[in-house]
Amino acid sequence: MVNKFYPETFLKEPEPTIGGVNISYLGEKYGTPLYILDKKTLVIQAQKYINSWKTYYKNEYKVLFAVKALPVLEVIRIFHNLGLGILVSTGGELYISRAAGVNPQSIYFHGNAKTLKELEYAINENIAGIIIDNFDEFEKIKYLVNKKNTRTNVLVRIIPNIEVKTHTSIRTGQTDTKFGLPIVQAYDLIKKILQEKNLNFKGIHSHIGSQIFDITAYVKLAEVLSEVYKDLKDSTKVQEMSIGGGLGVAYTSEDNPPEVEDLAKEVSAKFKETVGHSFTIICEPGRSLVGRAGITLYRIESRKELPNVRKYVAVDGGMSDNIRPSLYGAKYSALVISKDQNHVTTYSIAGKHCESGDILIKDFIDSWPKVGDYLITFTTGAYNFSMFTWYNATLRPAIVLVDNGEDKLIVKRDSYEDLLRGQI
Ligand SMILES: Cc1ncc(COP(=O)(O)O)c(C=O)c1O
Repeated sequence: MVNKFYPETFLKEPEPTIGGVNISYLGEKYGTPLYILDKKTLVIQAQKYINSWKTYYKNEYKVLFAVKALPVLEVIRIFHNLGLGILVSTGGELYISRAAGVNPQSIYFHGNAKTLKELEYAINENIAGIIIDNFDEFEKIKYLVNKKNTRTNVLVRIIPNIEVKTHTSIRTGQTDTKFGLPIVQAYDLIKKILQEKNLNFKGIHSHIGSQIFDITAYVKLAEVLSEVYKDLKDSTKVQEMSIGGGLGVAYTSEDNPPEVEDLAKEVSAKFKETVGHSFTIICEPGRSLVGRAGITLYRIESRKELPNVRKYVAVDGGMSDNIRPSLYGAKYSALVISKDQNHVTTYSIAGKHCESGDILIKDFIDSWPKVGDYLITFTTGAYNFSMFTWYNATLRPAIVLVDNGEDKLIVKRDSYEDLLRGQI
């Protein structure tokens, strides 16, 4: 059976390959830990978003790659060439996106604590829209555009009051959240924006969380956005509305993420029923574009058996290259590449970092590997590289892109000298 968390081109037999390239060969060539990205999965996921909105939404649509999930030049270029825009959350992400050659008119900027410097950068770059999160940010933008006597496009982020079933750290649409404004306050902010000659109000932004499996949460969101659209109808034209990102992916065989197509279908149907397709719809996927495209390759460094307690297998990476298990208790699937498939047993896969919580998978069942064998973890394309931490002065792993039997280095592995960069 093909697992839901496998990248499109992953084959387990006779030896594990991805993009037509032998995975052990990649380990020998580039070393480990190694992030490996399957280009075909990236392209297929992007096309799913584009084709689904094209089919179901009868007006303009914009698919923005939430670059925080994987801020890598080559990945940004792949998506931008397919017609995707980019959503950034910091000046740094804006810088990387511009360095990748993204047209500023395809870039939107969100975030709850943008600095004056970041806002100035975004205004100077003339990006497509700044998503205002709060009144203080409005004052900063107003100050900047008036000082420069330039106009900028803005959207306003609302709190839609929708609670989704996902980890509390990645839930954002509920009443108590640091992101956005309650709808009534958002209306006050919009009134202020409409009085400013240098601010061009474009529309409404929302985002209900991440790793969401329930499409009905987006349908509820569409209902809320429709009400907002109607409420604002007499005072201004809402040209754009964003439903955010957040669609989930499969990390284990228990996960059943919805189809991208169903998201577009259900949301478009709801808007058709309420206010029609009278505005440009924006969606901002991160995880669902890149998550399944990525795997991480480790080498096994040590094993131990605590009698009547637990067996451990330790790899040459861990919470530095994948902080999600220790941060949220996130679950992952893995595969040992071992010549000895006989002795199957249960063990914990531990990282190499100086924290007891640095466990990648707690109860993993596979063959008992040898030191030097390879181990793959799946669905590591999103929020692994981007959440890298150099705890224990760890070297950031390389990223290799595979496609059609070819492998290409797209991010170099850190060296010891890189650890000293900036240190005096
Ligand atoms: C405003 C906004 N949009 C989009 C995303 C992307 O979310 P995901 O990677 O779950 O699709 C995020 C992620 O946190 C976000 O904060």
